[in-house]
Amino acid sequence: MSTIKLPALDAAAVAKLAGKSLLTTEDFTTAELDTLLSVASALEALDRAGVKTDFLTSELAYSLFFDQSTRTRSAWAGASSRLGMAPVIVDGKSTQVAHGETPSETGAMLGMNSHAMGVRHDLILGYGRKFIREIKDGIDSYLKATGDERSVPIVNLQCDFDHPTQSLADLMWLKERFGSLKGKKIAVSWAYSPSYAKPLSVPQGLIMLLTRYGANVTLAHPEGYKLLDECTTAAKSHSAESGGSFHVTSSMDEAFAGADVVYPKSWGPMDLMLERVASANDAKAMGEIEKRALERNASHKDWICDERRMATTAGGKALYMHCLPADIGAEVTPGVMAGAVVDVAREANKKLYVIMALLAGSKVKGLAEKLQARAKGQA
Ligand code: CP
Repeated sequence: MSTIKLPALDAAAVAKLAGKSLLTTEDFTTAELDTLLSVASALEALDRAGVKTDFLTSELAYSLFFDQSTRTRSAWAGASSRLGMAPVIVDGKSTQVAHGETPSETGAMLGMNSHAMGVRHDLILGYGRKFIREIKDGIDSYLKATGDERSVPIVNLQCDFDHPTQSLADLMWLKERFGSLKGKKIAVSWAYSPSYAKPLSVPQGLIMLLTRYGANVTLAHPEGYKLLDECTTAAKSHSAESGGSFHVTSSMDEAFAGADVVYPKSWGPMDLMLERVASANDAKAMGEIEKRALERNASHKDWICDERRMATTAGGKALYMHCLPADIGAEVTPGVMAGAVVDVAREANKKLYVIMALLAGSKVKGLAEKLQARAKGQA
């Protein structure tokens, strides 16, 4: 077997990923994120060449989902099984959390029995991030109290604040397409959706991450659809440090004009997302708020990624991105999506390698050396 070419891996930098969890990209330095993506690219190269990286056999990768998922659930299963782990995916509502078991207790119990844990808890502002932090505290306290030296990383598979495996997958795809993001104009835009009031965490994660890489990021949304101040503040600060820019507009046309990349997707109106917080356990009230959110969305049906807007982008051929699923005919026209089907699938596929990199980086000792050995056909 010929040697498979891997991206450069700095063994000392890779070793520093040991024990890390991913709750938000804000917890990582840019250098750590770069290392993580190098590991993800190496794992992808090996996987595409059919080389196994089953470094974590007989370990359990447990995940809890408090919301629907197609891509992230399968990426979790695909990533952990490629590492030799046994993936388990549980509907969060089927656990004793529904009967009031605290996140800390839940974390201790699940961490005791498993070797890594993923959580999606994204529907209510202020809930998911707190829940995932408390899960991590529960596991960490248990491990410390029992002298258990295992690393049990926690991976945020989408909360109300960030969707870090998504934004990192998006960054990996952008780096593959463009190399550097410096000077690239990226439009992160609200778009109309009739389906549901979507979480804010994808656009929040994108503006916080892409501004670290020197991109000129424009965030566009109608009045009333602002994102959390904490995220726009972070985006401003990152863009100042990276030499990029961050700009907010209420015009989708302005965001698209001359853009190299467009990322049009929907999210819920801020006032109604906040109103949901007090009604989270009241299904009737939640249904009524959702109805009002969709009525509000419907007053912005002209916020669609269509052929006219795409024609105004750089060379008329900006890279179209979406975390999926997209509302075709509302967020994006069928024609634009038809031209982007393979690209968005490749974008989505990167999440598998991001999760692999997180789990392997956190748990596998001597990972860089082991990856190089596998690339050379050694065990
Ligand atoms: N983009 C994304 O997270 O997809 P799923 O909701 O299907 O996991």
